[in-house]
Amino acid sequence: MSGPATTAEAREALGFAEFSRVHPGYSATEYLDRIRREDFARLDDQDLVYLDYTGSGLPGRSQVAAFQQVLCGDTWGNPHSENGPSRRSTEAMRRAREETLQFLNADPDEYSVIFTANATGALRLVGEAFPFGPGSRFALLQDNHNSVLGIRDFARARGAVVEAIPLRPDLRAATATVVEALDPKGASPSLFAYPAQSNFSGVKHPLGWIREAHLRGWRVALDAAAYLALSDLDLSRDKPDFVPLSYYKIFGWPTGLGCLVARDEALAELRRPWFSGGTVVASSALGGWHAPAAPPEGFEDGTPDFTGVLGVPIGLTYVRETLGREGARTRVRHLMSHLLDEMRELRHTNGRPLCVVYGPDGMEDRGAAIAFNLLDADGVLVDERPVENSAARNGIALRAGCFCNPGVGETIFALDPEDLLRAGRRPALSTAEEYRRAVRLPTGGALRISLGPVSNLRDISRLIGFLTSWRDHHADDDDISGLPERARC
Ligand SMILES: Cc1ncc(COP(=O)(O)O)c(C=O)c1O
Repeated sequence: MSGPATTAEAREALGFAEFSRVHPGYSATEYLDRIRREDFARLDDQDLVYLDYTGSGLPGRSQVAAFQQVLCGDTWGNPHSENGPSRRSTEAMRRAREETLQFLNADPDEYSVIFTANATGALRLVGEAFPFGPGSRFALLQDNHNSVLGIRDFARARGAVVEAIPLRPDLRAATATVVEALDPKGASPSLFAYPAQSNFSGVKHPLGWIREAHLRGWRVALDAAAYLALSDLDLSRDKPDFVPLSYYKIFGWPTGLGCLVARDEALAELRRPWFSGGTVVASSALGGWHAPAAPPEGFEDGTPDFTGVLGVPIGLTYVRETLGREGARTRVRHLMSHLLDEMRELRHTNGRPLCVVYGPDGMEDRGAAIAFNLLDADGVLVDERPVENSAARNGIALRAGCFCNPGVGETIFALDPEDLLRAGRRPALSTAEEYRRAVRLPTGGALRISLGPVSNLRDISRLIGFLTSWRDHHADDDDISGLPERARC
């Protein structure tokens, strides 16, 4: 009779039986184990526990093979010509735009897709071209990526008032607070920007805010970069004006392509501050004029990633048909709630908790990410860098720092607004460590675990084993002298 060969395997089998009892719905996602073996064998071959899906999705082997076949099965030329390979690329771009709109259930008569290098490029496009002026307002949620915060510099330069809508300690914002901030708007064009899903805490913010903002005359930029990894938008129902995204967050590859999905009526109000190759129908060197091309091409810059776009229909088909959006969500939901339960239970010998998890307790309105810190046996925060380093040595890839989202860190560490204002007025600060001291951050940031379609219980068990190894740890014992500088925010 065959049975588990080792105690570790027996323990694993027991753990799986107990998990399946509590999470019977997980078994419907077993097809993803097969896909992991076939398309993501590299994870187990390298004994790697990948827990940074919010950082980047992973491409499947068959997805990349399909891309290679298309790329090498034809000749693709610069689309700014009229020869055969060029026309083929133009058609590939048209198809990638069409499939992107279908993925978001957006009406092609209402929305356009503008290709950019990434979500940041899409946000920059909105920021530099939005008709901010004196009397305009730019409202953003405290929970925003730096690439959204950066828009405030464009807004301020053109006389707009910038305001940040604060988070509650549970890392959500009350709808009443948001509505209050948006009321009254005034006559000048104003923009409200927020993430559909926080890249820090995984919190999903209400899509109903889009309608609230529209009712008050605001344009809305909904940052969907983290959200679309596992969740779907329906732009026939919720109608943000600008939706930036990076394709690699959804299907891992290509990594140099994103887009701005924009409502045509909002796009018509944007004024580009410059022009470039590919964005004009004509221009004159001596005459000093240019005639902009119509959108979407008029909003793109230079030669687009005309071979990268070949990966868009392939990647979207892969996540919809091979991985399955619903199956991936079910799997991740069960793994996440198991992990949250386990993290809450982890204790030092003296009974003190081992982890502090930021944001909501459960899975309601939250994506597949958990932000947390380790606490030592005296309840002191453990520096995130030794944890990240040790995780890496143990084959676990997680994220540490502020994840380019300083506002959530300011909330979880309850930073003093006066300290934050003062630090901004001190030009001498040049390293992340100096800023940390100036704003009295207790540590450089948090740790983040994020799951994806082929995460499995083994990944979670390896992680829990790793976290448990910090039991009875004393933060004073950490030698941080040889550690690299703190991560850039
Ligand atoms: C919510 C959110 N917005 C914007 C970005 C910026 O994306 P990119 O670096 O691909 O431009 C990220 C990246 O992590 C993100 O998570």
